[in-house]
Amino acid sequence: GKDGVLVVGSINDDLIVFQDRLPRRGETLVGHHLRESFGGKGANQAVQASRMGARVSLVGAVGQDLRGRSCLENLREEGIECRVRTAQEDTGVGVEHIVDGDVFATIVPGANARVDPEWVTCQEDLFRTASVVVLQNEIPAESNVQAVRLARLHGARVVYNAAPARAADPAMMRECDYLVVNEEEAQHYLGSRITDLDDPQETARAVTALRHLSPGVIMTLGERGSHVAVNGEVHHVPAVPAQVVDATGAGDSFVGAFAAALDGGRDDLGAAILASHVAARTVTGAGAQTSMPRYKDLSDEAVRAQGGDSH
Ligand code: RIB
Ligand code: NA
Repeated sequence: GKDGVLVVGSINDDLIVFQDRLPRRGETLVGHHLRESFGGKGANQAVQASRMGARVSLVGAVGQDLRGRSCLENLREEGIECRVRTAQEDTGVGVEHIVDGDVFATIVPGANARVDPEWVTCQEDLFRTASVVVLQNEIPAESNVQAVRLARLHGARVVYNAAPARAADPAMMRECDYLVVNEEEAQHYLGSRITDLDDPQETARAVTALRHLSPGVIMTLGERGSHVAVNGEVHHVPAVPAQVVDATGAGDSFVGAFAAALDGGRDDLGAAILASHVAARTVTGAGAQTSMPRYKDLSDEAVRAQGGDSH
């Protein structure tokens, strides 16, 4: 049978600066400390899925530079099968400014642009075996289209984390099983503001409205939990309380854990509940991958909450 999580996506090196506030135009601000850590939404999601016990492969690209070499080495140490090409461009970089645990980020894609449709097509064997394919928005849009086509052809489910927000491709999104967005991205794809994020009825309405784009929709709302629209119903999954140090990669942690849980045979709501426990752990430490938990490190409560132990 089919098994394993295939991530097609970005690999970045992250520079994370902790500071009291953002500088004004022309101002030089003195930050507290800098942390360099492995990032990129694709790589982060692959690492989290692997730490949950799934068999994971990653299709991506890095530059011919030191950053690229260490990113690749890190992914291999995480037990991920890498189909990572080496490009002329520099390895992708993420710059995150952390203010009170909130993230203000800029990415420079570099080599990630070389995850082109041809490179995706060369990895068709992975689509044949994977049960879940995971995509984001840090590689060219036409590469995602090709990945969805191959996933459909070989009967794999698709989890599409449409982040960062960019022009929607409704035809592609309809072919995905799950669309995962945060509140910023949700508003982008809705084309309207959610006036009160604290009103669960309003956020639930927003999720329902997104269902014209994809049959399953998950909207993550940080400390407000998440809304999960599956099988014609909208569920609210409460947030797991956490002491937030750095929210970088929290969404990736959710997506990676969700994909691994689906691959492990859990139903989608159970997978989302587990994923919210996992993401709550990721926000408690600096960096994206550095703070992602392993399955065995989760509390009994988290494991019980989603009913079982399949990895
Ligand atoms: O989602 C967080 C990630 O987004 C960071 O690791 C950064 O590299 C960007 O890709
Ligand atoms: Na973190």
